[in-house]
Amino acid sequence: MKAKVTGKVISQSCIAPGIYDLRIETDLAQDAHAGQFVGVFTKDASTLLPRPISICGVSDDKKSIRLVYRVAGKGTDEFSGLEEGDEVKLLGVLGNGYDIEKLSSIRTSAPSRVLLLGGGIGIPPMLQLARELSAAGVKVISVMGYRDDRTFLLDEFTAYSDTYVATEDGSLGTKGNVLDAVRENGIEFDCICACGPMPMLRAIKTFAGEKKAFISLEERMACGVGACLGCVVKTGEVNHHSHVNNARICTDGPVFEASEVEI
Ligand SMILES: Cc1cc2nc3c(=O)[nH]c(=O)nc-3n(C[C@H](O)[C@H](O)[C@H](O)COP(=O)(O)OP(=O)(O)OC[C@H]3O[C@@H](n4cnc5c(N)ncnc54)[C@H](O)[C@@H]3O)c2cc1C
Ligand code: FES
Repeated sequence: MKAKVTGKVISQSCIAPGIYDLRIETDLAQDAHAGQFVGVFTKDASTLLPRPISICGVSDDKKSIRLVYRVAGKGTDEFSGLEEGDEVKLLGVLGNGYDIEKLSSIRTSAPSRVLLLGGGIGIPPMLQLARELSAAGVKVISVMGYRDDRTFLLDEFTAYSDTYVATEDGSLGTKGNVLDAVRENGIEFDCICACGPMPMLRAIKTFAGEKKAFISLEERMACGVGACLGCVVKTGEVNHHSHVNNARICTDGPVFEASEVEI
């Protein structure tokens, strides 16, 4: 169920230049899963629409969520000033998220081998996904891509997966992008889950070939609840809601099977 709620900040820290790790106590944690997101409202009335931020983690007691975000503009800059005890308005939980049961069943041998590819600020949602897949008995391989060796969250992936890294400048791991690291390390897999910039997702769609790839589209959004059509993506099949060849990223996604969307 979607609800507008008030959460309470438990903690916030800066974990890399311009990247913040925010923990919020909220009832939304009870229903939050990998690939879903929340809308975070600013206090500044000139920026009325909530900012979509992915679920990076859910606490074991399901009482709080973790959001990891990059300061991109006015809204996220305001969030970076939140402190322990502050109240923050949230809309959620939004989006479809990853289907763990489906991912567990795509396999050529048991257990299923799911390759997680994260680029830049597409990395946070991959951490909760690694956790949920690992708990479901899936073999998880994570390849995370950064600009340079100022990484974030990387160590945490090792608890749930075989973990590889690619950096654009070659200062850590494979020099290049996440697909360069997959090739360099001869990584084998049954299916891919990915989140990151659009050029990366396009390359992954081509790379996946016959194998299934599930991509999370983190495009610009407005209402976040399916009302404004400000987030549509072209689809191969006629959408059951719009009756045309498009889907709303905020409600039909943000996770789509790559072969089903034109990106
Ligand atoms: C489903 C979803 C999940 C997301 N999850 C995360 C997350 O976990 N962590 C995170 O750091 N960011 C995430 N984003 C992106 C985040 O929502 C934007 O960075 C944020 O809304 C920017 O708000 P702002 O007011 O700070 O910046 P604005 O002033 O609105 O914009 C500043 C700059 O950021 C760019 N921008 C704005 N929105 C987006 C967007 N959606 N994608 C890419 N660039 C954008 C603008 O073009 C502009 O250059 C997600 C987006 C979506 C749609
Ligand atoms: S953002 Fe309004 S319909 Fe998706």
